[in-house]
Amino acid sequence: MKHHPHSFHVPVDRRRFFKSMAAVSAGFALPGFLAEALTVSPTVTQGPYYPLAKNIPLDKDNDLVQLNDQLTLAAGVVTYVGGRVLDNSGNPIRGALVELWHADREGDYLYSTSATRNAACDVNFAGFGQFLTGSDGRFGFRTIKAGLYRGRTRHLHWGITLPGELKRTTTQTGWNEVAYDLNGIQWDTQNSNDNIFSTVANASQRASMLLDFTPVPATTTGEQEATWDYVAGRTFTEPTYPNGGSLVVGGVPVDGGRFKLTIPAYVGYSYEVYANPTLADLGWRALPFALSATGVLDRNIHTSAAEGALDIYVEDPAEKGFYYVGYRVPGANIGTP
Ligand SMILES: [Fe+2]
Repeated sequence: MKHHPHSFHVPVDRRRFFKSMAAVSAGFALPGFLAEALTVSPTVTQGPYYPLAKNIPLDKDNDLVQLNDQLTLAAGVVTYVGGRVLDNSGNPIRGALVELWHADREGDYLYSTSATRNAACDVNFAGFGQFLTGSDGRFGFRTIKAGLYRGRTRHLHWGITLPGELKRTTTQTGWNEVAYDLNGIQWDTQNSNDNIFSTVANASQRASMLLDFTPVPATTTGEQEATWDYVAGRTFTEPTYPNGGSLVVGGVPVDGGRFKLTIPAYVGYSYEVYANPTLADLGWRALPFALSATGVLDRNIHTSAAEGALDIYVEDPAEKGFYYVGYRVPGANIGTP
């Protein structure tokens, strides 16, 4: 994917200019003078209510209003939120996992009290959803206007997992509004004193979290919508990771008598080494290995934490000098020591 910076002749509007200055003063590396200045989405706490791994609901599509195929929809103002996942040069990121979870109309979370579904939560509310972005980086959700709960103003929780990464980055968005509870009483906690939104130091980043919701055109049911782009804090190169498979790798003798195997490694992939070191033993067998020329040969599998060349060391000479390295995709590395 290639980014096309704006033409030199495009006038810089005041708002964009302000944003670019704010980004510079905050020390962010801008991709270039002509590139559009984007506000990097701030990372804020995941909070305690992301569903535990064993409790991820079966219904995890991008419609939180309808749970499974139930006829009764969740209570609340139907709300659409959508946008793009971008890198800091504005390139859309394909294959990003976008996750959304938030409180129901009354302010109750799906899993706010225990490992099982919170009985206080609207039984028709899905409470959690996922969306995998396409080549345009776009995502979209249908949900309801989040309810208020003590200590916070109105907000949505987001998780973004970029392709090739194992770690979820979390952020939150709110409503650019004065918040009122269901009785029409002004809520104690507003954006200005909320302990998440008010503590994002960069004004441009803080503003980017507070979305302007507007009525959905041509509807009479009060539905609202907002656009929000998640901007990752770095440039992004789409990984071209293989499926699980194997390589045949030559072993290079090193001092001390071992053989060094250099393999292309990917984040989260797991590697194992096999060889038939002697003609007397024709069966392939796993070879224990070390990650250094002198380290203990104490592992049969290694999960790489980084992308790039990975050196692993084995002791047994392979027939004709070649080893068989099996590799598995992230998450497929269980069951083997
Ligand atoms: Fe929350």
